[in-house]
Amino acid sequence: MAENGMRLESGAAVSLSSGFIPFLSGASEIRGSMATQQKIILSGIRPTGRLHYGNYFGAIRHFLRLQEQGERCYYFIADYHALTTVTERQDFFQQTVDMLRTYVACGLDPVKSVIYRQSDLPVTAELSLLLGMVTNIGHLERGTTYKDKMSKLQEDPRAEGNPLSYGLLGYPVLMAADILIVRADIVPVGDDQRQHLEMAIDIAQKFNHRFGDILNIPHGVGRDALRLPGLDGSVKMGKSESNTLDLLDDPAAVLKKIKAVPTTTDPLPLETESNDPDVVLPKMPPGVGVLYRLLSLLASEDVYVDFLGKYRRGEKFYGTLKKSVAEYVSAFNVPIIEKYNDSANTEEFVKDFLRTNAQKVTPVALETVERCRDAMGIGHSLYRA
Ligand code: TYM
Repeated sequence: MAENGMRLESGAAVSLSSGFIPFLSGASEIRGSMATQQKIILSGIRPTGRLHYGNYFGAIRHFLRLQEQGERCYYFIADYHALTTVTERQDFFQQTVDMLRTYVACGLDPVKSVIYRQSDLPVTAELSLLLGMVTNIGHLERGTTYKDKMSKLQEDPRAEGNPLSYGLLGYPVLMAADILIVRADIVPVGDDQRQHLEMAIDIAQKFNHRFGDILNIPHGVGRDALRLPGLDGSVKMGKSESNTLDLLDDPAAVLKKIKAVPTTTDPLPLETESNDPDVVLPKMPPGVGVLYRLLSLLASEDVYVDFLGKYRRGEKFYGTLKKSVAEYVSAFNVPIIEKYNDSANTEEFVKDFLRTNAQKVTPVALETVERCRDAMGIGHSLYRA
């Protein structure tokens, strides 16, 4: 999906933020000496379209926080995982470029974090295979993502072209491999990924139980993890639900989307004195709840509380609320859009960038896989040094 229509022949211009340049200096290695005190952070996002507010507030803002805390951060573009939902060839390279640009535009710093593409670490697929040996198939079949997909297929025969695949069933195993291969301690993800992380922990524990204390067990998703509802008021904002507010939406697109948020129901009694969004928002009509969630994420507490007062008093104010939310969203997006459009790099530059970063994560990944091979008894690969 080459949204900006750029050509990908060797040397052709591929737009990418100039923020990438320091990546290639190898400067992130300077942090090696601090390695013992650092926590290892890992997370990934599928390159399946533009990044939306769920991605940002569920995951990326935590990527930034952990990066600024000086932890050892690995953030990757999950292109193998994106394959689980495609039925025909897609331009994943261009989607990867778009994603890199957005990552950097959001503030991910190539000097401080290692940003790589999942398929540049193919040894992850080997670890996934090894982990598959300790993974209970019933456990995978009970996965909510898999079950949702199965029920959608049963409801909609037109979805036949995209059948339930082994890849989809094994999605959590590959995700476990991503996490365990770098020995991650913390995996910043949104609430929707809670079950996947629990599965990764379970797989690691089973492996260690059978084969010795080889894999690092990461922490689970914190209780405060966010699940941002969709602009249509449904439970989750998601790329495949077409209900997203995107980081690259310009002010006109933002206004149009916010105006379309369903707010036909008048304020309902809140039955609580609390202003905590987690307490109050579920008591509101769904569309209104989304607007308040956005306000709580973007505006000052005073503004949020002021609007909550209007809701409590049952004033007619949804129009003002929408206008205000649209302004906050646009003010948040504009600098990201500017940085995204900042500069251009060649395809060769991007490939070099990806190669350099893959090289930074490969040693730890190979070491983990060799340890697992050895623990299971097949020993070291003769094809690797
Ligand atoms: P993906 O691309 O679906 O989502 C990327 C990140 O965005 C978060 N997110 C949300 N958070 C809150 N509210 C929402 N509505 C919302 N929508 C998306 C997700 O929780 C996620 O953090 N399986 C992962 C990709 C992955 C991965 C990994 C993540 C592959 N391997 C290893 C961590 C570790 C995913 O679903 O991406």
